[in-house]
Amino acid sequence: MRIPGLSDPHVHMREPGATHKEDWASGTAAALAGGFTRVLAMPNTDPPVVDAATLNIAKKFAANGARCDYGLYLGAGPNNPSLAARLADQAVGLKLYLDQTYGPLRLEEISLWNAHMQAWPATRPLVVHAEGRTMAAAILVAALADRPLHIAHVSTREEILLVRAAKQRGFKVTCEVTPQHLFLTAADLPGSRGEVRPRLASQADVDALWENLDVIDCFATDHAPHTAAEKAAENPPPGFPGLETALPLLLNSVHTGQLTLEDLVQRMDQNVRRIFNLPAQPETWVEVDLEHRYTLTAREMHSKAGWMPFEGWAVFGAVRQVVLRGKTVFMDGQVLAQPGSGQQIA
Ligand code: NCD
Ligand code: ZN
Ligand code: ZN
Repeated sequence: MRIPGLSDPHVHMREPGATHKEDWASGTAAALAGGFTRVLAMPNTDPPVVDAATLNIAKKFAANGARCDYGLYLGAGPNNPSLAARLADQAVGLKLYLDQTYGPLRLEEISLWNAHMQAWPATRPLVVHAEGRTMAAAILVAALADRPLHIAHVSTREEILLVRAAKQRGFKVTCEVTPQHLFLTAADLPGSRGEVRPRLASQADVDALWENLDVIDCFATDHAPHTAAEKAAENPPPGFPGLETALPLLLNSVHTGQLTLEDLVQRMDQNVRRIFNLPAQPETWVEVDLEHRYTLTAREMHSKAGWMPFEGWAVFGAVRQVVLRGKTVFMDGQVLAQPGSGQQIA
């Protein structure tokens, strides 16, 4: 069966700064193997992407390494609201980190959130990492600025109900949910490997996400690779690799009847294109096999992470072939696209 090339609005490529975790060539190989022909990359690299100089560095690494199409986010810092806004047409969106997570970017004061929400063009995507009460506050500040807001990785019952209520009120709020928050609870991965932001939650939270599927605009991987050794060490960094497991897991949900293929394509293609103003990708599609049952394993991953939270899970739903702009870029387990063949969208 053929589905469109998928777009992931939330990945971490780690280049520059932490290429032992991932680089553009390995991360976009993982994307293609997972059915994604386009990824939107977060700015919490080292250095973080916060101005023209660091954006140009990020652009250079992406242009040299990317095997699929991509967009780059700018990060919101304490000093760059107007500077970031002037660069808006070179980035796919602005990312605001409002809670503690991996990387140095974090905005403490609400006045700073407001400065960014006022300065960043209302026609361009603005994404927040904002959990729980922080999410409630972010929705209010965006509403006061009368601007659209996309909420990254919604993970709990109270959050998804808040998004539902905000939408019902006509607030311009959209949201994404990750596979780890749809398929795992904290009890499933109790050790240090289970560290992720937002944290894995309870079965009631997982159930609430599925019950409120109509409120979920996008499925995003939040592909956040850290190596197995880093995850096993003291103070493990939060984050899971996700590009190569998202589509198989969600196709398996189509197999079990929890989801329709239309639900999936809406959230991994159509809605992502609409929310992030992405151009269509002509002659681009993914051949999936809904009947093939196999076991997910890190041994077959292209990501440098080298481990996965879904190791040993049996799923129905395999990616057979990926065609990007008329070229076969993935076939029978092999990535065929060369580094540098991906194009920037902005
Ligand atoms: C992300 C990372 O490692 O960059 N970690 C995570 O646990 N999700 C940061 C983030 O998306 O919050
Ligand atoms: Zn985050
Ligand atoms: Zn992330």
